[in-house]
Amino acid sequence: MDQNAKKQAVGRAALKYVEPDTIIGVGTGSTVNHFIDALADIKHTITGAVSSSVASTERLKALGIEVFDLNSVNSLSIYVDGADEVTEHKHMIKGGGAALTQEKIVSAVAKTFVCIVDDSKEVGVLGDFPLPVEVIPMARSYVARELVKLGGDPVYREGVVTDNGNVILDVHNLSIVNPREMEKTINNIAGVVTNGIFALRGADVVLVATNEGVVTR
Ligand code: A5P
Repeated sequence: MDQNAKKQAVGRAALKYVEPDTIIGVGTGSTVNHFIDALADIKHTITGAVSSSVASTERLKALGIEVFDLNSVNSLSIYVDGADEVTEHKHMIKGGGAALTQEKIVSAVAKTFVCIVDDSKEVGVLGDFPLPVEVIPMARSYVARELVKLGGDPVYREGVVTDNGNVILDVHNLSIVNPREMEKTINNIAGVVTNGIFALRGADVVLVATNEGVVTR
């Protein structure tokens, strides 16, 4: 099975976590796009969605799914999103698509985080995938110097402006052996909006598409 077929299979598998008459949180990326497409088949059973990016909002609306402002919603039953890396502890690196901050906010509100990945995303230790850090533009150089002190090699993602008007530093060569501590440490640097480690609030369920089918971790 090729990678796109795996993404499609795991996107559809997440439908079983969608409860009727609820508002669901929706992530961003090529795997979630398959989930959104599958969601269209059962759109009349849900109230609507809260989205984590302009791209996902447009895709949801094009399929006739109502998109709510998070501030008008008290709770979300589930949040469904992909990841760039995920461990057996259900910690993740996210933000390859630059949507990490809104993803972190929407996932924080949801009762259950369902992470959907193909098996290429499973790792023992986070950090081979360069860690995205969203930064207020004026703080870019300062934050980069602080990230070097932590042992990383930050690279400015040129030409990318986030949905929040900020920039992204991708931090190479970080071996993230304690993801919860690293998530807090990087978030404490002045000028950092958030970083792409999702460990303080990791996933509750990880669905992994393999050649043998979709397995639940
Ligand atoms: C978006 O910013 C990311 O967090 C994505 O969720 C992550 O990069 C996974 O994307 P794909 O499903 O496209 O691999």
